[in-house]
Parts: sequence; structure tokens; C-alpha cells
Amino acid sequence: MEDKGAIATRRSEQRSASVVEDRPAAAAPSAKLDVARVRADFPILQRTVHGQPLVYLDNAASTQKPRVVLDAIATYYATINANVHRGVHELSERATQAYEASRERVRTFFNAASTREIVFTRNATEGINLVAQSFARPQLAPGDEVLISAMEHHSNIVPWQMVCEATGARLTVAPIDDRGDVILEELERRLTPRTKLLAITCMSNALGTITPAREIVQLAQARGIAVLLDASQAAYHMRVDVQALGCDFLVATGHKLYGPTGIGVLYGREARLEAMPPFLGGGDMIASVSFERSTWNVLPYKFEAGTPHMAGALGLHAALDYIDAVGFEAIEAHEQSLLAYATHVLEQIPGIRLIGTARRKGSILSFVMDGVHPHDIGTIVDREGVAIRTGHHCAQPVMERFGGPATARASLAMYNTREEVDTLGRALLKVREVFA
Ligand SMILES: Cc1ncc(COP(=O)(O)O)c(C=O)c1O
Repeated sequence: MEDKGAIATRRSEQRSASVVEDRPAAAAPSAKLDVARVRADFPILQRTVHGQPLVYLDNAASTQKPRVVLDAIATYYATINANVHRGVHELSERATQAYEASRERVRTFFNAASTREIVFTRNATEGINLVAQSFARPQLAPGDEVLISAMEHHSNIVPWQMVCEATGARLTVAPIDDRGDVILEELERRLTPRTKLLAITCMSNALGTITPAREIVQLAQARGIAVLLDASQAAYHMRVDVQALGCDFLVATGHKLYGPTGIGVLYGREARLEAMPPFLGGGDMIASVSFERSTWNVLPYKFEAGTPHMAGALGLHAALDYIDAVGFEAIEAHEQSLLAYATHVLEQIPGIRLIGTARRKGSILSFVMDGVHPHDIGTIVDREGVAIRTGHHCAQPVMERFGGPATARASLAMYNTREEVDTLGRALLKVREVFA
């Protein structure tokens, strides 16, 4: 392996106003992912856990961070830290430039038409709450409906329940089949004249199901119904293009995109966002303030009250550069091959049953083992250095749908290997031995 040959040393095209001025590199992404080179970019992957090499398979909860992201954050604080959009001094101007360059980077990553359509949030959850309160709430009347699917994360259920409760609207749910696919005809039946919004995931964190998002958007919009897509999981596995999808809103979260925590993205069509009142009030989101009345800033600042997470935005910029330097073609090919391999490995282990076998799946394997509680599985494999998630995965209704309160979940990212999947397989055999 080359010493500086890691993916991180590729030059990014979008780095012009970035804080990380010596950020290197963009070669044309190749379709074959060099996993050893990728791994070398993630410092945490060198560590051990309980004396064993870390095998990190909890990526659906949060991914690890490449060094370029850590460097971007440290460089920001070390060289240009100042509040944005406020000062005329050099640091404030540079921080503002870098923050806005991050927004432009997010725009190109999701192919939005304008940076006015890119709102920085804390995470995906905040983006959904923003749309619930500022878009849905003002137009919902008693008897109106908000439609979701049966496999949503709690963050795409609870905000809708809250607005429904406040307005007298109803939350309706499109069912899924035994594989974990949305039943499209059932979804379509629930797109009624009372439906004001459809909010649905692009990829389920609990099952791995990739939904036919574009088709779903078209079904809703043919009836004049707005659509919010939750791309929290999808966005780090595959290209998410908001114009190709045609959605009205889309949310993503930085910490799953190999970026920092505390930074998320809400995409909203400009005309939609323009028509919406602010979500939070405070500094930066105003044009003028008097005791009688305040007026609002232009987009997207109308939705960014208070000091934003500048370092987070810059870290996200570095993360998106990193993903594009590796390339989604290579990422998808690697993860899909690993998913097929891991599915095979798990199927060989006596007593394991996979939950979620959708026709199109991302690299998530939810499973249960006969006679063993998922928490026991998680605890035993942890002793072998293997990090998996156990529990309801913030998706209690879909767990219920599959007949239990919890599963174990191994979720794979671009830096995972077949050897790591083998380690998981051996660790699961130990679980079997313990409970034999
Ligand atoms: C599908 C999905 N939606 C939403 C979220 C919420 O993300 P965050 O907690 O970063 O807002 C998650 C996080 O696990 C998720 O997997």
C-alpha cells in the first residue's frame, strides 16, 4: 500500500473555498474499490476492542470517519474559527465562505437546482420536524391524512403523529409484505383526496429494503400530494439525486455519510420552502426585527436560526468529497457483493433467520437466532471485537410486523471486508455453542 496512496489523497474538484486548502486529490473514481486503501483512511479501524481487531458492523447507526473529515474539523478550529454571516473581519468572512462552500458541495452531491434549496439542520430528524411543523401543520385540517410506510424509523413517524394530534389529521400507514417490500397497490389506495403529504424512506434501516422512491413520488404527485423522502440510509450507499427523484423534500444526516454528528441536510423545492413559515426563530433567520414585528431572511437562512454548526458543515464537505472520490459505482459494487456473501454466511448458521429479504436491498442484515435474545447475541459477539446493533433499531412498528420486539443487525459499509464477515460468522457460531 502506498504511504500517501489512500483515497483521501485524491484532489477534490469542489474544494475551492474549503477550509482544508491542502486537501488533496481527485482521480477519476474507479469502479473497483480498493478496500485496503479505503481502510487506511479510517484511523478508528486500526483499534482493538477486548483485545481483538475492531470489526465495525454498526454502520446503519453511524459510520466511521475518514481522516480528511477529522482534519477538516481540526483545521477549521485551528485556522478560521469565527461566527458566520456576521463579521466583516477576515476570519468571519473566511468561515462564511467555507460554510457556504459546504452548502454548494451538498447541492452538487444531491443535485439540487440551487443552494437556496439546501438547509443545514442538526440531523435528519430535525429536517423532518421542520417539514412537519412548517409545511404540514399550517395546512392540515381535521380528517386530512399524512401517509407513511410500515417500515419507517421513529423519526419519520413521531413528528407526523405530533402534527396529526395537533390538527386532528390522521396518520395512515402503507403496509409491507413478508419480504419487507412496500405493497405499492396498498400504498396507492391510501393516497386519498385527504392525503396532504407522503413521507417515506428510500432505504429501511431495520430491513435494508430499498424502496422504489421515484415511482412512489410519481404516484403521489400525480394526485397533487407532496412527498418527503428520508434518505438517511440511502445517501451513503447510492447516488441520491433530488431532481431525478422529483421529491418535494428530502432529508439526510451527516454522521451516516462518513461525516460529523450534529449536521444534517434538508432539501426542499424552492417554491415549497418559500411558501413555508420559519421553524425556529432567532438570529440569522431574520431580515429585520422590531418589537412589533419581524421579517424573515431569504432562503435558506430563513430556516437556519442561531449559530450553525460550521465545523460540522465543513466536515460534511470533506466527507462528501471523500465519498465521491471513492465513487458510488465502486461503493455499490463492493457493498452488494459483501451483502451477498454475508447473506450466504449467515444462512449457513443453524437457527438464524433473516428478517428483511426485499427484492432490492442495501447492505443491512437483520436477523434473529432461535432461542437466543438479540442482546445476548450482541454481547457475545462484542467480546470477539464485533460491533453489531441489537434492539428495535428505532423502528418498533416494523419489528412488531415481523413478530418480535428486536433483531440483531449487521450493517456493512465501504470499508468492510469478507474477512470481517467471516469473523462475524465465527462469533455467531460461538453464540450457538453458548446456548446449545
Ligand atoms: C432511516 C432513518 N431515518 C432517520 C434516521 C434518523 O437519523 P438522525 O438520528 O441522525 O436524525 C435514521 C437513523 O438511524 C435512519 O436510519
